[in-house]
Amino acid sequence: MANVAVIGSQWGDEGKGKVVDWLASRADIVVRFQGGHNAGHTLVVGNQTYKLSLVPSGVVRGKTSIIGNGVVVDPWALLGEIESLRKKGVDVAPGMLKVAENCALILPLHGRIDRAREEARGAAKLGTTGRGIGPAYEDKVARRAVRLCDLADRKALEEKLDHLLFHHNALLRGLGAEEVDRAELLAGLVEVAPRILPYADSVWRYLDGERRAGKRILFEGAQGIMLDVDHGTYPYVTSSNTVAGMAAVGSGLGPGAIDYVLGITKAYTTRVGSGPFPSEQDNEIGQILGERGREFGTVTGRKRRCGWFDAVIVRQSARVAGLDGIALTKLDVLDGLAEVKVCVGYTYEGRSYDYLPASMAAQAGVRPVYETFEGWRESTRGARSWADLPATAIKYIRRIEELIGVPVTLLSTSPERDDTILVHDPFAD
Ligand code: GDP
Ligand code: IMO
Ligand code: MG
Repeated sequence: MANVAVIGSQWGDEGKGKVVDWLASRADIVVRFQGGHNAGHTLVVGNQTYKLSLVPSGVVRGKTSIIGNGVVVDPWALLGEIESLRKKGVDVAPGMLKVAENCALILPLHGRIDRAREEARGAAKLGTTGRGIGPAYEDKVARRAVRLCDLADRKALEEKLDHLLFHHNALLRGLGAEEVDRAELLAGLVEVAPRILPYADSVWRYLDGERRAGKRILFEGAQGIMLDVDHGTYPYVTSSNTVAGMAAVGSGLGPGAIDYVLGITKAYTTRVGSGPFPSEQDNEIGQILGERGREFGTVTGRKRRCGWFDAVIVRQSARVAGLDGIALTKLDVLDGLAEVKVCVGYTYEGRSYDYLPASMAAQAGVRPVYETFEGWRESTRGARSWADLPATAIKYIRRIEELIGVPVTLLSTSPERDDTILVHDPFAD
């Protein structure tokens, strides 16, 4: 029985939510395994739009939803999301949603630190979502995080807080900033504990049992490979690994549990926040892509930077994450352009590159080499079969496949759930 990992192959917002929702009809369980509520995954079903940050996108189809140990969980944000889903008629009862008891929590102090650091960086800011993701992962790796299971044990929780605040308050004092009020933090956690603990479970054990019973698992990545803390455009990245291997680590299954890795790939490129973006079009083309693609951040509402498809980036992503296929999304946004360009290589200091070098200076300095394609006048929006696509659009897709060395297994032609063309079923592998 095949299990599929869905991950973003660019800088996030590729359309993972839409594709996960679509694929979820073929799965039993959907698992988030990294990131936190920095993610914003959009699903459009008829005239209803859902924006999910922490709850896996399979929940709308009533699939069992899992938040794995690799996710950093803000309990208040999670409860708020559950409540807003309930208002839209999606019931997320404990049992339907299981949160790994060993996941690290995002506390209010993490958001405060995240935002204060960004402010202190001024023009050199990373452009984080300000949700406390980085500081929470730092505390996890430093072995001082409060984990979900700690909320069940008042004594352990108080010891954890002492340890945590010993560190943070020393730093805050040094910076001349206001210290964290232990009593206030403790009171908040004591209040939230009985509301969030019903969702806590030993997720690794549950998933192992379901896997043995032949259930199909869909892993839902957040962010994108170019935001991976190791493989992305460091330091302009998020604080987790976003590559497919993380699906195993972040849910408590072995690497053999992932049978197929599907990279979600936008037919052009966007990025929100700071950092290198070689094929960026800070001009009329970027403006057109942004308007047609409605490129505004799901989480922060920030305008996304837009540019041509960068085949170098996606090829590199395909290699470091082991992509078996891609789901190409938002092809319709390119409809009507006289010509369409694809970045096929870079030059930097007199040398040609077929990959993105690691150094910050090189990443900022590479110049794109483009291949130009004839555009298509016809609309591809809402196309539901390959035969509905203009020949020039097919030529564009075929060249992308050739350049990245990975086939298109799914094509998305609008935000709507059913405007999707299946070329090859990833679960069939
Ligand atoms: P995610 O973070 O990868 O889940 O992506 P987001 O939801 O943040 O951003 C993708 C946006 O594109 C959302 O508004 C989707 O509704 C929309 N979208 C997804 N697929 C398509 C598509 O094929 N065509 C168009 N026009 N929009 C799409
Ligand atoms: P989804 O899952 C796009 C970006 C932020 C910033 C950098 C670090 O919707 O694709 P962080 O708050 O994680 O410390 O910010 O990462 N970023 C995303 N960009 N889509 C996302 O998620 C993102 N999550 C984080 O804009 O540049
Ligand atoms: Mg998003």
